[in-house]
Amino acid sequence: MPDTAQTPKGPRHVAIIMDGNGRWAQARKRPRLFGHQAGAKRVREVVEACPGLGIKYLTVFAFSTENWKRTQVEVAGLMNLFRRYIVKETRNLTQAGVRVRFIGDRVRLDSKLIDLMDTLEAATQHNDLVHLTIALNYGGRDEVARATKRLARDVAEGRLRPEDVDEETLPKYLDTRVLPDPDLVIRTSGEARISNFLLWQSAYSEYEFIDTLWPDFTSAELERLCRSFGRRDRRFGAVPA
Ligand code: FPP
Repeated sequence: MPDTAQTPKGPRHVAIIMDGNGRWAQARKRPRLFGHQAGAKRVREVVEACPGLGIKYLTVFAFSTENWKRTQVEVAGLMNLFRRYIVKETRNLTQAGVRVRFIGDRVRLDSKLIDLMDTLEAATQHNDLVHLTIALNYGGRDEVARATKRLARDVAEGRLRPEDVDEETLPKYLDTRVLPDPDLVIRTSGEARISNFLLWQSAYSEYEFIDTLWPDFTSAELERLCRSFGRRDRRFGAVPA
């Protein structure tokens, strides 16, 4: 991969809700898992496009805390896909300079998958070209609840005073504590909702809801969205001087 070349005013952190795999498969009269497999292939193209677009941080929503409500076949298929993805992509991601992190609650994940996640995080921990964060069993509300639990424990055990809790303190307890907030959140497949993704972190993000189904998403479309982002007037609540 070429080195990161920050395009002026382009997004530094892009977060993606990869939606539409099921409909993509259905349109081809194939099982839903076929769509998820095609979706997993798209992730590589998008990661590889990041340095050229000046994207330093990419966060993708792979499995939500609500996705357990899907059929047992689909959930098992997705978990199997995540395991295979990690095994298959570890060498490529490591050599390409990608640092991988996982966010979300690991308690419901099986131990084999957790081991693979730990191994991939460790193998890529010294990389810095692109920071890829995969949200797996992630929900924004669940993340805030888990963070609050840890924060409350620190208060109860005297490490933190309640009067010191502010907007700077809480993010230090979130799964994303080492990441900047997303500048741009993209959702594919025509749905215009955020589905519990990065609730705290996306308070001032720009949003793009596009019709493309995730398995059809390309680096060219990402580039178009980055350019459009560059034309936006981000005020963060202020009035221009
Ligand atoms: C939403 O589409 C997609 C998911 C719940 C899974 C996302 C997973 C991948 C893209 C593949 C694996 C990713 C990685 C990082 C290995 P949907 O099933 O809700 O689609 P639908 O709305 O058309 O039914």
